[in-house]
Amino acid sequence: MNSVGGYFELELRKGKEYHPNAIALNTGRNALELILKVKKYKKVYIPYYTCYVILEPFEKTKISYEFYSIDKNFEPIFDYNLLNSEDGFLYTNYFGLKDRFIEELANECSNLIIDNSQAFFSAPINNIPTFYSCRKFFGVPDGAYLYLDNIIEFDFPIDNSEDRFSHLLKRIDLGAEEGYKTYKENENNLVGQPIKQMSILTRALLRNIDYKKVIKIRKENFLYYQQNLSLVNDFNIIMDKETVPMNYPFFSKKNKLKQLLINNKIFIPTYWPNVISWSDKNSLEYIFSTKMIFLPIDQRYDNDNISKIVKIIKSNNHEH
Ligand SMILES: Cc1ncc(COP(=O)(O)O)c(C=O)c1O
Repeated sequence: MNSVGGYFELELRKGKEYHPNAIALNTGRNALELILKVKKYKKVYIPYYTCYVILEPFEKTKISYEFYSIDKNFEPIFDYNLLNSEDGFLYTNYFGLKDRFIEELANECSNLIIDNSQAFFSAPINNIPTFYSCRKFFGVPDGAYLYLDNIIEFDFPIDNSEDRFSHLLKRIDLGAEEGYKTYKENENNLVGQPIKQMSILTRALLRNIDYKKVIKIRKENFLYYQQNLSLVNDFNIIMDKETVPMNYPFFSKKNKLKQLLINNKIFIPTYWPNVISWSDKNSLEYIFSTKMIFLPIDQRYDNDNISKIVKIIKSNNHEH
């Protein structure tokens, strides 16, 4: 029997995880490692436009990979007829906006693997290995979900997250700037980890989340940007009603917008710094990584926050 009584633990709501039928692991990259091991591909095609940690499972398993490029809609420039039965093809659901495209791709491309690290709320497709990384969407230190149709038996150790919490706590107690260094350290701490099951603590935090509310807020915030900025956004967003995006990609020829936002304490992530060094200066990948502005839409922010960001962008757009 579990211990009863005595001092309290961190008090959390006992709700439901969003992916209760998935395999719960420690990181997205390790979910990919498990896919590679189970599927035994000889080679996997991966996008240039992705996070460098995606290479980690390839280094660990010694499975070879080859990069492919994407077009202005974040879709592969690739002849799928080139794939043979032992090749895998990894595609990222960019910013949670590519659900519809993935449905089409699934018909065309054999041995597809979907990286839904940026699309926590996108459903997996039958028979297509799909993984998710929880901390891109929520205040958790680690955690990933994996859908894999093969029946596998595993007894990976259960991860322990308690030492990876300080940035989450510091951001509340001391502010974003104070916690940033620790955030980087804790991210580094996820490098080179073996495959583990998701920690009990991360699972408890994920059960604490009100997913319905998160979905509603993300959609509302996204829609507000779209209604106010689509005419000045040079990136053409096509999405359907069910989509729950990660952020609002905004592309403008105006320079210095990112710096202006940072000056206003609006922090814009770079997706991805490694792509800037990997890719040719004229490539779309380079342009996406250096010029695309990913505006926050997440559940921490309401219309007051979002409308202020829109005002800043509009004022910048009026300047010549
Ligand atoms: C597109 C993408 N895929 C996969 C990952 C890896 O997820 P994790 O850090 O949980 O291993 C990341 C970032 O880390 C990512 O940005």
